Amino acid sequence: MMYLFSGNQTRKLAKLGIAFMVVGHVAVAQQANTVQLAPTRSDITISKHIYGHFAEHLGRCIYDGFYVGEGNTSVPHTEGIRNDVIEALKKLNIPNLRWPGGCFADTYHWKDGIGPKDNRPTIVNTWWGGVTEDNSFGTHDFLNMCELLGTEPYLAGNVASVEVQELADWVQYVNHAGKSPMADLRRENGREKPWNVTYWGVGNEAWGCGGNMTPDYYADVYRRYATFMANWNNSGGVFRIASGANSSDYNWTETLMKKIPHQLLEGVALHHYAVIDWQEKGPSTTFSDEEYFKTMKSAWHMEELVTKHSAIMDKYDTEKKVALVVDEWGGWYDVEPETNPGFLFQQNTMRDAMIAGITLNIFHNHAERVRMANLAQTINVLQAVILTEGNKLLLTPTYHVMEMYKVHQDATLIPVTVNCSDYVFGEEKLPAVSVSASVDSLGKTHVSLTNIHPNTTQAVELSLDKVYGKAAGRILTSANLRDFNSFDNPDKIKPSVFDGASLKGDKLSVALPPFSVVVLELE
Ligand code: AHR
Repeated sequence: MMYLFSGNQTRKLAKLGIAFMVVGHVAVAQQANTVQLAPTRSDITISKHIYGHFAEHLGRCIYDGFYVGEGNTSVPHTEGIRNDVIEALKKLNIPNLRWPGGCFADTYHWKDGIGPKDNRPTIVNTWWGGVTEDNSFGTHDFLNMCELLGTEPYLAGNVASVEVQELADWVQYVNHAGKSPMADLRRENGREKPWNVTYWGVGNEAWGCGGNMTPDYYADVYRRYATFMANWNNSGGVFRIASGANSSDYNWTETLMKKIPHQLLEGVALHHYAVIDWQEKGPSTTFSDEEYFKTMKSAWHMEELVTKHSAIMDKYDTEKKVALVVDEWGGWYDVEPETNPGFLFQQNTMRDAMIAGITLNIFHNHAERVRMANLAQTINVLQAVILTEGNKLLLTPTYHVMEMYKVHQDATLIPVTVNCSDYVFGEEKLPAVSVSASVDSLGKTHVSLTNIHPNTTQAVELSLDKVYGKAAGRILTSANLRDFNSFDNPDKIKPSVFDGASLKGDKLSVALPPFSVVVLELE
């Protein structure tokens, strides 16, 4: 099995002195794995925005997760936002946060969520559990929370169940500094300065919950809404993201790239979940060996998806001006027993750490085109980084991977050539090892390695880009693949010092235990 990088990447590597770039692997699981770091610097930045998160009005993500209400006396908070959440997310350096959906976005009327809370109307959250939404968490609450978190908001606009004016008004409400009807309304509601929101989604999953549109129809809808979000030259600098393809719907991307004028388009989205089967997703913790393999297969499928969607975008945008934005990704399993099926609450094991390790490496290695992504979802929903229960909070294995990998944010990509062993299951096989590397602004090189093999240690021999004097790092693993952090044992899985690396000049040998994630710093 081989993974060939896109034409542009290959050309770039040729310039760097590498004839071609292949991620391949050999048949024998215990055979040594080799990794070559390109000896010449690339000019590709791994955008920090690849490390974005997603917070939908779904289950206990917003209410109970981020927001407990200004009047809460049992959970320490700042203006209703949990202090423990603020502290944990600040440590991740989260670069952007997508809100309010998801499917919820195309049912949302932003004017319901402004002004005195007692006067806000209630609505029914039709997509997620049919619960009553009291709109107590709205635009000001979200944008002020982003300021507390030090993160950039990414607002997902409704284009399926409202008119163009409603989205245009939202942009004016949050971004206009001068006098205008919406800016004046914002001031009446207590906020003088605009928030200057850059990132805007123009609908969500327009092919499904966002209106069941065809790509041609959506392209026209997009053109209308995007036109009224900015002026002629987009001097406000809004970054408009088109609702993207469902996994391998390549025709969707092709149609948008062809039909939408590129001066109206800054990003095209893509959604892909690591799911086994939408009808039978399987349990989050007691999964079988086969279910584990299938989840890994679906996670590795991201490599093919970003390669092929990027290749289509390259046809219409040779200068790579339009970003590929994977604004929903992560594992999706059956909900935990006795929880509301509409709340998508699932536990998070070492399997999820593997999904995160592989996926982030894929994004890094495609960073020329993939410039933004959002893990679904931040708290208590799907592949969450945080779970809460009353005033307790725990960090999941996925949190720890995001924290270990954050050293790659805004660093310069070092292309890698990987030859690795197979993880074989029945008649099928997957690459056992995933790798990416970068050099940061201080000149420190970081290499992240993930071994998804459930049973076999992988010996990896790395040929480095230069001679280094020191290698140190951390590892995330556990006694069992199915282990997870619980409120009784919240620190069962956490990173520890890695002592499995030995450095000799420009050669580095690493022993990666089964189902482990390692990040090394080289100086
Ligand atoms: O993340 C949960 C849901 O998955 C989102 O609301 C939707 O966009 C996707 O189908």
